[in-house]
Amino acid sequence: MIVLGLNAFHADSSAALVRDGKLIAAAEEERFRRIKHWAGFPSQAIAYCLSEAGIKLSDIDHIGFNQDSRANLMRKITYFITKRPNINLVLRRLRNRRSRAGIPELLEQTFPGETIRAAIHPVEHHFAHLSSAFHVCPFDQAAVVSVDGFGDFSSAAWGVAAGNDISPYGRVYFPHSLGIFYQAITQYLGFPIPRLSPLWRRIQGHGACALRPPLISRHHAENCALGPRRRVRAQS
Ligand SMILES: [Fe+2]
Repeated sequence: MIVLGLNAFHADSSAALVRDGKLIAAAEEERFRRIKHWAGFPSQAIAYCLSEAGIKLSDIDHIGFNQDSRANLMRKITYFITKRPNINLVLRRLRNRRSRAGIPELLEQTFPGETIRAAIHPVEHHFAHLSSAFHVCPFDQAAVVSVDGFGDFSSAAWGVAAGNDISPYGRVYFPHSLGIFYQAITQYLGFPIPRLSPLWRRIQGHGACALRPPLISRHHAENCALGPRRRVRAQS
């Protein structure tokens, strides 16, 4: 069975191809377009995955992509009715949803003359994260955890995975989010692209570092109040 997984119309658009449970190829679209964090349709990443596997579009059995607009629908409707979010934000979400609905047409445009035989599956955001880790790992069962900003109205999900199943035990729903907290801290430190700063990601990997004292002293000096942004230099 051949499965193509897509992260489309979301930051760091990408494609991955799995054959019989083994990862054959995976690529981010930014590597081909040379545009960091590119967030459209990953046409070149898909072409790369197909050529690495030596197959055509018609050989794919299933295509999964990274959002299911029906997930947590009642929570979304309740939020919309009670909080009345900004209309531009709602329109942006609807445009994004329409873009994902057009994935079959985009595939046909990208690979003219080829036919799509695959079933296309919208996958709830955190299930997509959990599946991308578990279904290609060497274990038969595992505890699985996904934590990020937001996807399909939740920011984290955890549970147990075994065989083909992932059973969720719990979730964190909008507006609570460890990822957004992380973004706020990044923004507070003054990075121009909050959340996505590679420097800040590098700092996470190294634990305590030279940037920590300025953060603490500033935190104390301003008595926990958010002050003007300041750019912090990296020490390489
Ligand atoms: Fe995510």
